[in-house]
Order: sequence, then structure tokens, then C-alpha cells
Amino acid sequence: MRSDQAVGCCELIAGLFWNVIKPRHTGKIIRKEWKVSSVIPQPVVAKLTRAAIFLVVTVKPGDQHEDTIRALCGDLSSLLRAVGFRDLEGRLSCIMGFGSDAWDRLFGKPRPIGLHPFREIKGQHHAVSTPGDILFHIRAMHMDLCFELATHIMSRIGDAVTTVDEVHGFKYFDERDLLGFVDGTENPVDEAAIDAAIIGDEDPDFAGSSYVITQKYLHDLKGWNAVPVEQQENIIGRAKLSDIEQADAAKATYAHNVLTNIEENGEQLQIVRDNMPFGDVGKGEFGTYFIGYARSPDRIEKMLVNMFVGLPPGNYDRLLDFSKAVTGTLFFVPTATFLDNVSAEGAAPQLSSPSADDQSAADVSESQRLAPDGSLGIGSLKGESANE
Ligand code: HEM
Repeated sequence: MRSDQAVGCCELIAGLFWNVIKPRHTGKIIRKEWKVSSVIPQPVVAKLTRAAIFLVVTVKPGDQHEDTIRALCGDLSSLLRAVGFRDLEGRLSCIMGFGSDAWDRLFGKPRPIGLHPFREIKGQHHAVSTPGDILFHIRAMHMDLCFELATHIMSRIGDAVTTVDEVHGFKYFDERDLLGFVDGTENPVDEAAIDAAIIGDEDPDFAGSSYVITQKYLHDLKGWNAVPVEQQENIIGRAKLSDIEQADAAKATYAHNVLTNIEENGEQLQIVRDNMPFGDVGKGEFGTYFIGYARSPDRIEKMLVNMFVGLPPGNYDRLLDFSKAVTGTLFFVPTATFLDNVSAEGAAPQLSSPSADDQSAADVSESQRLAPDGSLGIGSLKGESANE
């Protein structure tokens, strides 16, 4: 490797990570090689599914309740295996995220550098900030799997938490939202999804983790359906029936896909979305549950400011004239390895950094195993491997 080349270890998936080599003068990636990592991310970049449950809870005050939550962290993968094995084609997955205050209560230090409570935005429209200590994002091809897992989770932690929001989402025809547009087309996939959503060497203690922002939107469908389709298409920036993107020159400056296009040094900063329609026909409730994962909350927050305040201010997202955000939360999503190693009592497990160039992840695991007191030397680790 030439001395002017930088190595960054990032983009973790399933225990592997890309070692990325970029010459410092261009900043362009010239080579990537797979290396084995000791941390396994939660399935943030899992393929989209037909059903999902979004469960947001707050943790009741009291040490015993915090112990209950920590005990679940360590057992979540086992619950998931038990339910998921009943229908392997059903692709059951669950992501557990933690709000800023909950992180401090449950795990203390170190803390992820970008973690903070969701910041409300008051512009042309209001992005509210609402309570939420823990998010369970449960996905599967069928609701029965999601429901079963949610039931087991709540039977474990029900007495320790208060449910603040529960939404059962479904896929609609052609992957459309209830506004009638195909939602998710420009989502990054594969390597690009990992690059968008998984923390790399910018926060080595938490490499392999992610951030997630959720917002529950309620639509004024009557109002929206009264808008001519051509104007709806200008609001989204795509054709409604064919889902073809409008030419850049033809897009309105307030189009949703203009305001959510964030660039840094000429490169687009992407996020991984898995929005789901939901509703309650009897109550006349029609909604979109927005969920966006990113390696830093900043990029999602910039999109939100562009949407709610406008770019420039006043040139806001007209989607919001017909869609009201009724919740807003930000969570940190630690790795699956981290969760597996949490025990009921004690602080956060020590984190290994796959990005430390001179100390391999395997070295870290070895030193943990060799702690003199026979434990893993890190207080709260259970001493189990991530996949047990
Ligand atoms: C009512 C809520 C929302 C609805 C119904 C909605 C719907 C859509 C639709 C139909 C598209 C075009 C197809 C696609 O690429 O997915 C889209 C694109 C996108 N949306 Fe949203 N969205 C909502 C909220 C948000 C929020 C809150 C954000 C970010 C903070 C966001 C970020 C994006 C991004 C990044 C794209 C891709 C833009 C591109 O690169 O072309 N959306 N959304």
C-alpha cells in the first residue's frame, strides 16, 4: 500500500467487513477486500418484507425494569430463532433500537457519538418529537410471524415498559403507499445499503451499528385525492402509474426527491428506508410509517429540515400539506453481537473495533477471553459467542 493511501474498515455485514482503500489525494475507493470481523450487525439492511410491526415503548423507572430490558437484549436472538424457525421462508427479523436517555440508563458509557433525542423541527410544518426508549422493528413476509415474536417480547418485558405506539404495517399493491405512489424505488441495496446505513470507522467503538429515525404520518386522503395527478407527480418527482422519475430539469424545486437528495463533496448521502402503509378504515385513518436507517442521524435530519422548513426556507415538501407527522423518534441500533453480550445487571459490554488497523478484531476477542477473573474481563458480557 502506498503511504498516501488511507485504509478504512467499514461496511460490516454478517461478520464480514470491507477493508476500503482510498488514495488520500482523490478520496476515491480504489480497492476493497473482505476481512472477517468479530461483530455482526442487526439486520438493518434486510430485504423488504410484506409485513412489519413497529413497537415503541418507554422503560418504567426502577433498576428492576432496566434489568428486565437488559435480560431481553441477551435473549432476543434466541427468541427470534425459536419463532423464525417455524417458517424459515417467512424471513422473520427484529431490530432493537435504543433512545438517547434509555442508552444512558441501560448501558452508560461509552455512548454512540451521534445519539441524541429526536429534535423537533418547526418550519412550514411541524416535525414533532415524541417519547420512545426502545424500538422493535419486526419484519417478516407474514404478519403471524411478526405478531408471534412481538407477543413473546412483550410477555418478557410487559411489566417493565409502557407501550407508546404500536403500528402494524402492510405492503400495498405494487409496493405503493396509500397516496398511490410506489415507495422505496430509489432505496440503496447490497453494498450501497451497507455503506448508507452501517457505521464504520467514524465511531470505532460502535462499528457495525446504525441509527434509525421513525415518524408516523397520517394522510388527508380526501385532500390528496382532490389534487390533480399531474400536480401529485410534481410533488413526488415521479410518474404515478409507471413510477418513472421525472427528468431533473422538469422536477419542481419542492419535489420530494429533490428535497431529500443530500450531497456531500459531490456524493449523494443515502439512507435505507422501509416505509409501510397502515390504517384503520373504520376510523378513517390512513398512514405511512416512515423508518429510515443511516450511519449518522445528520443526513436524515437534513432531509427533514429540507422537507419541513424548505430549501431555501419556504420551499417545503408539499407532501406535508397532506401528511401530518404525529410521532418522531431517534434510536441507536447496536450490533447483534452487542445485544447478545448484554446481561441483566451491569453496564454495556466492551465494544471491539474492527477498524483498528493494528489490532484485529480477533485479537480483541482473545484478550477478552483471557481476562484474569475468568470472566470476559468486561463486567457484563455473558461469555457467549454472538451466534450461540
Ligand atoms: C409521508 C411520508 C412519506 C411518504 C409517503 C414518502 C414517499 C416517497 C416516495 C413515493 C418516494 C419515491 C420513490 C422512492 O424512491 O422511494 C420517496 C423517495 C424518497 N423519500 Fe420519501 N416519503 C415520506 C417521507 C420521507 C421522509 C420523512 C424522508 C427522510 C427524512 C424521506 C426520504 C426519501 C428519500 C431519500 C427518497 C429517495 C429520493 C431519491 O433519491 O430519488 N421520505 N418517498
